[in-house]
Amino acid sequence: MHDAGPGRASERATDPEDVTVSEKGLREVVAADSSVSDIDGDAGRLWYVGYEIADLATNATFEEVVYLLHHGRLPTEDELDELNEFLVENRELSPFLTQLMSTLAQQASPMSMLRTSVSAASAYDPDGWDDSPEAQYRKAMRLIAKTPALIAYYERLRTGLEIVPPNPKLPHAANFLYMLAGEEPDHDDADALDTTFTLYADHTMNASTFTARIIASTLSDMFSAITGAIGALKGPLHGGANEEAMKMAEEIGEPANAEAYVRDRLERHEKVMGFGHAVYTTMDPRATVLKQLAREVGARHGDERWADIFEALQATVYEQKELWPNVDLYAAGVYRSLGVPTDLMTPIFALARMAGWTAHVREQYADNKVIRPGSNYVGPRDQVWVPIEERG
Ligand SMILES: CC(C)(COP(=O)(O)OP(=O)(O)OC[C@H]1O[C@@H](n2cnc3c(N)ncnc32)[C@H](O)[C@@H]1OP(=O)(O)O)[C@@H](O)C(=O)NCCC(=O)NCCS
Repeated sequence: MHDAGPGRASERATDPEDVTVSEKGLREVVAADSSVSDIDGDAGRLWYVGYEIADLATNATFEEVVYLLHHGRLPTEDELDELNEFLVENRELSPFLTQLMSTLAQQASPMSMLRTSVSAASAYDPDGWDDSPEAQYRKAMRLIAKTPALIAYYERLRTGLEIVPPNPKLPHAANFLYMLAGEEPDHDDADALDTTFTLYADHTMNASTFTARIIASTLSDMFSAITGAIGALKGPLHGGANEEAMKMAEEIGEPANAEAYVRDRLERHEKVMGFGHAVYTTMDPRATVLKQLAREVGARHGDERWADIFEALQATVYEQKELWPNVDLYAAGVYRSLGVPTDLMTPIFALARMAGWTAHVREQYADNKVIRPGSNYVGPRDQVWVPIEERG
């Protein structure tokens, strides 16, 4: 079966002159109009709805950023209260998901758990298959509200601990730390985590957001789009890089070892994780904020070794390869100082990016056309069928 009618794709494909092949990786392709976020890669700048990322990192709470990305403006106090109330009310998992988590905690890796449980969450969403804009908004907010419990319950169960239900008095980031550790977090730690959520919340048409928008463009549901996005984020060239950066730092062990480690890795033509970017040709503005934060959180916890190692890596990778750090390098440093296990770092990225993914999915639904690029056929043509007994 072909999806093009006679005389359409088949005609195009036979005339190579008519085919424009995009650069591998689609770097020069603009896939959609969007009002969510914007990047100037050469200047190292990022904006959410026109607000500079450093400004938001300093001033906004994650909940305000959620509102901003979804409504295209900052909330008033009443609007923020209403959003907070909805998020708090929807934090707890259904019995179905809690039960599923016991199995996933025994068997699945954290990102596989998240992919599976977000997909499973569709089964008990109160809006069911309602795909009205209002229902899509509520589904988006429920996904944002529940992701911390998915990760925290999984972590508690796999380490043999009782799950800790959400605390309605705590904001999003503080409540996540509370559910992980079973005690109210230090205010500065919760603030630092909240800042990382803001920094990770959106980033234009990255691979996972594009995945989500492609799925949404078929008018498939919000849960399917986000499940696909999680699958894309998991890879080490995308969100998986923060875990890989942390593993590298653990292998390096001491700042003095960074130079030899990088030299060895580059000689073997291996990438140094947490460096380089498809869009930025200079320092990622999120990395600038996180570098300082990693140092501060490390100092507060009496262990600046990780900040030292990551900074030594930055110096040596620039010297040897002229590459800048991206968001994932120093995020790993902050998370390690907050006591986050290495393999929960990418799920935490997903927890924060849930804000941007869902905003993009809603933007796609609001002005949709199915995303369906072409391909340039380079295989053989005019083949003659050979019966199986005559093939050799
Ligand atoms: C993010 C990333 C995929 C962007 O890739 P890209 O723009 O497509 O660049 P390429 O992978 O094609 O690399 C271009 C060149 O830079 C080099 N390069 C890019 N990132 C590198 C890294 N982290 N370490 C070493 N070399 C790197 C490549 O080896 C290649 O060199 P070459 O031309 O000599 O072969 C890439 O920089 C990378 O793999 N980084 C590590 C993973 C990571 O941190 N991902 C998180 C991104 S936020």
